[in-house]
Amino acid sequence: MKKIKIRFGTIIITEKTKRLITKLLDETRISQGKLTKKFEEKFAQTLGVKEAVAVSSGTDAITLALAVLYDYGAKRGNEVIVPALSFVSTGAAILHAGFKPVFVDIKRETLNIDTSKIEEAITENTIAILPVHLMGKAAEMDTILEIAQKYNLKVIEDTAEGYGTLYKGKPAGTFGDMGTFSTYIAHMITTGEGGIVITNNEEYANILRSLRAHGRACNCKVCVLSTASNYCPKRFRYESDVRFLFERVGFSSKMNELEAAIGLGSLELYEEILQKRLKNFWYLHNALKEFKDYFYLPKEEKYERIGPHAFPIILKENVKFSRDEMMQFLEEKGIETRTLFSSMPTQCPAFKFMGYKLGDFPEAEYVGNNGLHIGIHQDLKKEDLDYVVDIIREFLMMHGG
Ligand SMILES: Cc1ncc(COP(=O)(O)O)c(C=O)c1O
Repeated sequence: MKKIKIRFGTIIITEKTKRLITKLLDETRISQGKLTKKFEEKFAQTLGVKEAVAVSSGTDAITLALAVLYDYGAKRGNEVIVPALSFVSTGAAILHAGFKPVFVDIKRETLNIDTSKIEEAITENTIAILPVHLMGKAAEMDTILEIAQKYNLKVIEDTAEGYGTLYKGKPAGTFGDMGTFSTYIAHMITTGEGGIVITNNEEYANILRSLRAHGRACNCKVCVLSTASNYCPKRFRYESDVRFLFERVGFSSKMNELEAAIGLGSLELYEEILQKRLKNFWYLHNALKEFKDYFYLPKEEKYERIGPHAFPIILKENVKFSRDEMMQFLEEKGIETRTLFSSMPTQCPAFKFMGYKLGDFPEAEYVGNNGLHIGIHQDLKKEDLDYVVDIIREFLMMHGG
């Protein structure tokens, strides 16, 4: 069989993007400005929300969304409830924001937080729940919102993998107080590196704009668009220069114009990208059913649409091979693979200092040991997906299939 390179992600650079970037370079005006604003507006429109604030990564999107809560009385060291299984940065962002992650196990079938275990994790220090729509599978938002309301908690949705995810007809990321996205190359709408926070709350959006610019007090157009070379009549409206007054412990987390130009091109093709990825997801799903004795495959419920971020595969208990053996075989054959992350508190060395022990999160740990995921992006064709299936079949034949 001829070897084919199957990449995990892809990036679209449209003609429009090229034109915009050439103009930016000619004008030597590339730090956050008008295009970033346009990208934010278009992104918000795509999801039907009022506000979007672009930042420099999906991790910062979570961190800054959490940091907004200081304006509403949160204290350093307050607790945020989060699933044990996610990409490492979901947990890290909580620490970056100055809060403490409190981990809750997941359900293996959904890869999402086990909502029946949330209430027992709530203490008087809890301020928020941070569900993750992992692998495009919607978290159980009805239950999460109910619990949040009962205990007066904020909800911030990590939607980095949930573009195109629908839950009861509504897009993931729009249920809580804020939704966060990554626009890194592995994701559906990409800017190369970047992230974005969405919300219907204008006040949150203004705080986010301040937080991404070092906690700047002024949120007038000149300051927000970083057009500092323009004269700003509002700058000296108080006794000191308001542009250099910092009223929050902020971050340096802006998206630049080159990134926004890439994102604008990508957004124009949103529907096309979504449909191609959905097609690839279900083609692979259908083909891999053949191997259902070996793998747990994603399951879509009637009330949802799985967002086509990637394709997760979890090895069943009785298989005679390891996840790493399978990943190595696929990689040798040119198919890029990723693990299905790990239980942050017990399998990720970075969180060792928190004192959790192996066995505390059995479901997350099972996926951490037995899960992998592969790309289904818009540039993959039927032949590519057939190749993936053939290589998996070849691997299974070698391992008693
Ligand atoms: C679930 C999840 N959260 C957060 C992130 C962080 O995004 P970024 O890499 O843009 O910081 C990712 C990144 O891939 C992710 O998959």
